[in-house]
Amino acid sequence: MPDIPAALPAAFFPATTPAVFSRADFGPDFRWGVSAAAYQTEGAWNVDGKGPSIWDEFVHRSGKIRRRETADIACDFYHRWPQDLDLLQQLGVPDFRFSVAWSRVQPLGIGPVNAAGLDFYDRLVDGCLARGITPWLTLYHWDLPAALQRRGGWANRDVVGWFGDYAQRVAARLGDRVAHWMVLNEPMVFVGAGQLLGLHAPGQRQLGGFLAAIHHAALAQAEGGRALRAVLPAAAQIGTTFSCSYLTPWRPAAPRDVRATRRANALLNRLFVEPALGLGYPTADLPVLNWLDRYIQPGDENRLPFAFDFLGVQNYTREVVRYSPFVPLAWATLVGARQRGMPYTQMGWEVYPESLYHMLKQFAAYPNVPRLLVTENGAAFPDATPTQGRIADPQRQAFLRACIGQVLRAKREGIAVDGYFAWSFTDNFEWAEGYEPRFGLVGIDFQTQTRTVKDSGWWYRDFLTGGVGTG
Ligand code: NOJ
Repeated sequence: MPDIPAALPAAFFPATTPAVFSRADFGPDFRWGVSAAAYQTEGAWNVDGKGPSIWDEFVHRSGKIRRRETADIACDFYHRWPQDLDLLQQLGVPDFRFSVAWSRVQPLGIGPVNAAGLDFYDRLVDGCLARGITPWLTLYHWDLPAALQRRGGWANRDVVGWFGDYAQRVAARLGDRVAHWMVLNEPMVFVGAGQLLGLHAPGQRQLGGFLAAIHHAALAQAEGGRALRAVLPAAAQIGTTFSCSYLTPWRPAAPRDVRATRRANALLNRLFVEPALGLGYPTADLPVLNWLDRYIQPGDENRLPFAFDFLGVQNYTREVVRYSPFVPLAWATLVGARQRGMPYTQMGWEVYPESLYHMLKQFAAYPNVPRLLVTENGAAFPDATPTQGRIADPQRQAFLRACIGQVLRAKREGIAVDGYFAWSFTDNFEWAEGYEPRFGLVGIDFQTQTRTVKDSGWWYRDFLTGGVGTG
């Protein structure tokens, strides 16, 4: 059993983390899991009738992926899922979050279902249940069917109806066995990186397309919820997930930085959750959102809210915000951890576990907010190659402990947080960054597809099985 290494930078040990805690402190109903996503793990991109997604096309054509890597094979989860689920069972992880690839189910995004595609998820769900693992299913983790992109993708309002139809079909097939559903994964990221920054598929950089996609994704978020509700048994739990980062001003005494932080908060942390909660878009704090009016139709204010059973909070770091005259619309820029001399991960993200606590508090402060779950949290560090079947990853192990401790801190303050899912089960394809950033609790040698549980994975097992005090 690996001990938490003490010889790491102080950033891994916030003083606010409870000194000693165990799984029991979270109560018997708290959910514990790991998360993964279809495109990042499955491979088999053109197998058994699957249609191409925007990510398949983007990795093959754009030249925007580090080392020109693709997820054509990735973790080969499509073929190796039985062994991977065995491993998950051995680690004592009770809950598994994965996503469904829309273009496996509907190769063209609309119209006929590809039976082999739905059959795959059917087997995967049964495989989880047979091992005593509870499946948590995300409908959309960024892999839009390429055929729909040719019709405008998220910039076309019809996507709302297409998505609702897809949601119903998946729910009709799996709803008798899957009790936990998530509609979208991090809409701000797929809309921002995909439509405005051009870093993710479909690689566009157009303000109009970005604004249209915001509104359509916000509508699809609620419409997906309604589509699921119409089909699923009454007891089904329906949620959706949001990216978020605790934001602080670069110079707390500078009003310009404080205002820039408020704008960034509206854009990065509030934009999708507030319409879902019936609060509308955060236009007052980010005036450019007034331009969404071009895409809003009469009655949309009633279509944006949905009574989710839970919200998924996904947090990795904090950001420090500075006023910038060079970034139109937001007039804000982020000051990186490197520049501030703080410890950072392979993604360049500051090691700042307290961010998770602050974001849980921020989400919990909304009126009528449903219960919260941390549906992703983790860190990428460059792991050594396995020696004698072991990968020592002290930084990830310490980060995980600190973040789980911050969840407990929030819970002890009365915040209704009911679950924690580590990102990620295994190393996988980290989008534009390719395979270099390593987020897994389980390491993968992508040449041989060999799996090696990292020390952080064993630590999580020990924590979950109650065999270890974590002080
Ligand atoms: C959030 C995304 O949902 C996931 O796909 C990604 O790998 C992690 N963040 C890490 O960047």
